[in-house]
Amino acid sequence: QPRELLPPPERFAPRRVPTLPSLTDPVALHALRASLSQWQGHLWRAGEADGQPRIRRSPADGRELGDVYLADTDAVHRAYTRAWEAFEDWSRRPVSERADTVRRFAGLLEQHQAELLYLLMLEGGKTFTDAFADWREAHDFCGYYAQQAEALQGAPRVLDHVSGEANQLTWHARGVFLCISPWNFPLAIFCGQVLAALVSGNTVLAKPASDTPFIAWRAVQLLHEAGVPEAALHFIGGEASRISDALLNAPALAGVAVTGSTATAKHIERALAAREGPLLPLIAETGGLNVLIADSSALPEQLVRDVLTSTCTSAGQRCSALRVLLVEDTLLDRLLPKLQGAMASLKVGHPALLASDVGPVINAGARDQLEQARAGLRRHARWSAVTPQVDPALGEQGFYVAPEAALVDWEHLPEEEIFGPLLYIAAWRHDERDKVIDYIERTGYGLTLGIHSRIQAHIDGWVKRARVGNLYINRNQIGAVPGCQPFGGERLSGTGFKAGGPHYLMRFCTERVVTDNR
Ligand code: ALA
Repeated sequence: QPRELLPPPERFAPRRVPTLPSLTDPVALHALRASLSQWQGHLWRAGEADGQPRIRRSPADGRELGDVYLADTDAVHRAYTRAWEAFEDWSRRPVSERADTVRRFAGLLEQHQAELLYLLMLEGGKTFTDAFADWREAHDFCGYYAQQAEALQGAPRVLDHVSGEANQLTWHARGVFLCISPWNFPLAIFCGQVLAALVSGNTVLAKPASDTPFIAWRAVQLLHEAGVPEAALHFIGGEASRISDALLNAPALAGVAVTGSTATAKHIERALAAREGPLLPLIAETGGLNVLIADSSALPEQLVRDVLTSTCTSAGQRCSALRVLLVEDTLLDRLLPKLQGAMASLKVGHPALLASDVGPVINAGARDQLEQARAGLRRHARWSAVTPQVDPALGEQGFYVAPEAALVDWEHLPEEEIFGPLLYIAAWRHDERDKVIDYIERTGYGLTLGIHSRIQAHIDGWVKRARVGNLYINRNQIGAVPGCQPFGGERLSGTGFKAGGPHYLMRFCTERVVTDNR
């Protein structure tokens, strides 16, 4: 039994569970979905109106969602100037005041839940359950980071001392943080970065992905309503590449948090290294080429359920998602027919329909890249299973990609992350248990790893050797919960520290020691 890998239950701190409608209660669920429909036809407007407007459409059905005003370099400079001026006031407030502001924001997330869920579905393309998980994670970050900030900055830490001197360690905000967030968790990751920076006393320029500006804009408005001074938090709309010099070279910049591709993080790292002035921290969470290993003792039904969840949730557009399933050969006969049946029963459809298991991908470029990757997967497939194609009428306006899994030879496994619901499967023999670790090493990524086995020695061996950030044993490998599964990878997958973990806020701070010999 893998039990000793887990901490004893008393090490889990109790979590505050908000009083929200239960999704298993049909009446509450109906009421929530009814309140979503009031947002149909609403047009949003994001950004400062002196920029250039651009119409945004839904990836689900092409409907217009509103206009976003794109920031130019002047707007970025103005935002930095104001954020730097606001830093002194905001960072000097007691941490309990900033934490209370964040808790008030959690209350506003509850009040505005219907609008945010609607945007997560129509702007982010998320199914109802994925949208709810995104909203829920944003809400969890509020309570977790508020509590962590109070623990970190509430009282100085008294250190050992020699010869009667007193030593105290304290954690301080750094200045203006640039937070660059992705479209795949347009509320949760946006809020996670911004809240961590703000609650620890920094001021923020928030640059959300250009595909999901409205959710971010509403989050910024709600943070202002909760009590974050307007000058302390700025929304920067538009393509980062257009304004990247202004964003990364501003003298006021004190650190960058980015979640996105490894290439983007490396670009930022180079730009920061080339700057004049102080050395700045980079907190990067990037991609993964995530593996699930299953040996012959795995339970096929459980494995199929977890493979589908890990591969197809959010249409495979999670950095944590499963890309490569490495199975002991003797399990294949029991596994593949079940996987085929399960894939065939998935429904790709409009995210606002409860019956849809898989919604759209984010844009036409993503769809085209995935269809190209599918052609490559099929070229080498020795067996494959595919979810029925999308209703052609839906596909005319939205960007849908049917999930597909295929068994290939090892030399045809991917070397780069493929960001969608495509799954590569390869088989290993019982004397090849190290081969799976060698593959993970070769990819260079280190984000999530799933293990399905009931043999303690196998699990222990893989857990000891795999250099990845989040390991999941006999369950799916997505959906990390703040405070329970601090999330983030190593090597090509990120710098750490983990989001939703006890050390994350430290990266947004600097530590000082005062030695007092009075
Ligand atoms: N934190 C997200 C997950 O675990 C990416 O799925």
